[in-house]
Amino acid sequence: MSGVRVVLLGPPGSGKGTQAKLLQEKFTACQISTGDILRKAVNEQTPLGKQAADYIQRGELVPDNLIVKLVAERLKEPDCEKGFILDGFPRTISQARSLEEILTRMGLVLKCVLSMQVPRKSIVERLSGRRTCKGCGALYHLVFDPPKAAGICNRCGGELFQRDDDREETITNRLNVYDSQTAPLENFYRDRGLLKEIDGVGKVEEIGRRIIQAVGVVAA
Ligand code: AP5
Repeated sequence: MSGVRVVLLGPPGSGKGTQAKLLQEKFTACQISTGDILRKAVNEQTPLGKQAADYIQRGELVPDNLIVKLVAERLKEPDCEKGFILDGFPRTISQARSLEEILTRMGLVLKCVLSMQVPRKSIVERLSGRRTCKGCGALYHLVFDPPKAAGICNRCGGELFQRDDDREETITNRLNVYDSQTAPLENFYRDRGLLKEIDGVGKVEEIGRRIIQAVGVVAA
């Protein structure tokens, strides 16, 4: 396995999913979004989905053991051979230690961890206006990136929906969970010399260029 191996770190709504999709194309790597994998499992009512549903609904973290297992399996799939972008994982120090163990077993190391910096006010604005395509997963925003026809995906014509956890009270809980459980990862990765802070404010393409520049320095 070669190529880019990065973690996208950042609070809910900081643009991890948006940028992961751009990076995936740029570096021909796979995007591993634990949130997307969990939401699919919930919709399909798989055993994992049944265990995860309540946590997601409340804006809390799904237990580490469930998440670590799914990421370890996903990293072994062939489309990860050219590299991977981890979007939404790790989210706790324990998950970060497990990731180190998984990669060590695979003979790999992370190239960098990109930490998206976005003020709280913009985050709430972004999350409350987010719409996602049921068909292809494309992301939109009612104000910043609206679809051409209301409620319909430009790319595949699929129906757009609002995530259950993008309601105001759940957003507040997700932000609190981020501060207490995920933000400490910044120091964890800073200590390892892997952390790169990315200004996440501005046009999507402009932020993409900042990220590619930061990753490009260390890309294979
Ligand atoms: P997850 O799906 O990972 O959600 P999240 O981390 O809260 O992040 P989001 O998807 O909300 O935001 P994002 O940063 O990707 O922003 P986006 O690009 O969409 O997790 C959901 C739940 O699953 C968790 O709460 C937890 O329960 C569980 N879970 C997942 N992973 C887990 C783990 N590892 N451990 C335990 N539990 C886990 O952008 C947001 C909006 O802003 C969009 O509308 C977009 O169009 C817009 N936007 C993007 N960039 C810009 C810009 N530059 N300017 C203006 N608007 C922009």
